[in-house]
Amino acid sequence: MRLDIVTIFPEYLEPLNVSLVGKARARGQLDVRVHDLRRWTYDRHHTVDDTPYGGGPGMVMKTEPWGEALDTALADGYEAGAGGPGGPALVVPTPSGRPFTQELAVELSQRPWLLFAPARYEGIDRRVVDEYATRMPVYEVSIGDYVLAGGEAAVLVITEAVARLLPGVLGNAESHRDDSFAPGAMADLLEGPVYTKPPVWRGREIPDVLVSGHHGRIARWRRDEAFRRTSAHRPDLIERCDPAALDKKDREMLSILGWRQGPDGRFWRDADAVEQ
Ligand code: ADE
Repeated sequence: MRLDIVTIFPEYLEPLNVSLVGKARARGQLDVRVHDLRRWTYDRHHTVDDTPYGGGPGMVMKTEPWGEALDTALADGYEAGAGGPGGPALVVPTPSGRPFTQELAVELSQRPWLLFAPARYEGIDRRVVDEYATRMPVYEVSIGDYVLAGGEAAVLVITEAVARLLPGVLGNAESHRDDSFAPGAMADLLEGPVYTKPPVWRGREIPDVLVSGHHGRIARWRRDEAFRRTSAHRPDLIERCDPAALDKKDREMLSILGWRQGPDGRFWRDADAVEQ
């Protein structure tokens, strides 16, 4: 997979040389190219922003440097008419974008080439997105309901979530399977606690079931713990879950956690139900 990142802070992307993404680069699984937006400014101050039309606080990133930067990044490898699944997609991190989810990470991981346009200030002149949207898919993505000083941290987040899904990047392909939010058996449940040696640490033991060797009971325990954690931290996921995907033991666990089933089968819980 190829990643192009255009930014005014190339050094902010240094973490892409480290750990999982760094190793994937070294192995040639990821081709990461970071471009300094200011290379495409021609005034003494290397200006990339200007005051907003219509007034208001802050500054807006200018069209021309972005247009030239994106054109240059695309020139090496872009074929006319490559707007389809084999061509590049533009990813614009912004708090006003669609939420970044595991599902979107999977979708992005299936594309061969992502071009990131992280903004600073109040954002990029809208015409830039409108222009590139005529040539390729554009994903405007928010990594959460908070406002960062710029999109670079979001690029790091998105890149790591996407890179670990690429074939051969994680040592053990099974590692994805039980991820919180992974599509499949544990869909929409948060992962429960995990343990490793030693068996006793500061007087704290591990749950007996994990050394029972009984795979069925271990799987059931993990699922119960996933319900416990989801109920505590993300009750919205329990409310949204498909009751048809749950077995009798699942429903028993939810009942212990204070959940009731309405006439439509959906789960609900009194606001003051006691957390177990
Ligand atoms: N830029 C600033 N805040 C952001 C957010 N929450 N997600 C993505 N990009 C951003």
